[in-house]
Amino acid sequence: MLGADDVLDQYAPSDIELINGIGQVVGGNLRRVVHESASAKGFRFPPLVHPAAWLDDTVVLEEGVQVMAGAILQADVRIGCASIVNTSASIDHDSRVAAHVHVAPGVTLCGGVTVAEGAFIGSGSTVIQGVVIGEDALVGAGTVVVRDVPARGVLIGPSARTRSVPDS
Ligand SMILES: CC(C)(COP(=O)(O)OP(=O)(O)OC[C@H]1O[C@@H](n2cnc3c(N)ncnc32)[C@H](O)[C@@H]1OP(=O)(O)O)[C@@H](O)C(=O)NCCC(=O)NCCS
Repeated sequence: MLGADDVLDQYAPSDIELINGIGQVVGGNLRRVVHESASAKGFRFPPLVHPAAWLDDTVVLEEGVQVMAGAILQADVRIGCASIVNTSASIDHDSRVAAHVHVAPGVTLCGGVTVAEGAFIGSGSTVIQGVVIGEDALVGAGTVVVRDVPARGVLIGPSARTRSVPDS
């Protein structure tokens, strides 16, 4: 064990880079607090990408982003500061994920989705193309999101309905 947060005072920010190992859980913001307090002292967090993730060459990852094994990030995706793209999540073309977001394991963001700062997208959820998820919104595990979610909105559960197939 290295010690408590004051261990950082023994190092110059220019000599080391930090990895934030705290997860982003529903209802907690410790990961963000730790990131912001170390950043305020001048420390940097490099983006981390698991070797078994696949990222198009056009993807932009901001500082401190963590991309886990099996994730796929397609063309012109941008992921904001300190966000997590968890195991086997799939983020399709032109999607924008802001800072301090958790895209949980197995999530699918279809093309052109926008996720605002601090949102949590629960495991296995699907967000259809063009949807906007508001700041600090919560999408429960397994939810199918077909409309925009307001800031601090909570959306839980699948939204399946029965309809006839339209005539072609
Ligand atoms: C949405 C969530 C935060 C709700 O948690 P909670 O407030 O503790 O909710 P509870 O477990 O008390 O459940 C409340 C009700 O909602 C239902 N519910 C909870 N989560 C649900 C979900 N994802 N889909 C459908 N129904 C859900 C429960 O069955 C319960 O229904 P009931 O009142 O009829 O029995 C949580 O269930 C969830 O989906 N978390 C995300 C998990 C995840 O993605 N983890 C990734 C970690 S890396």
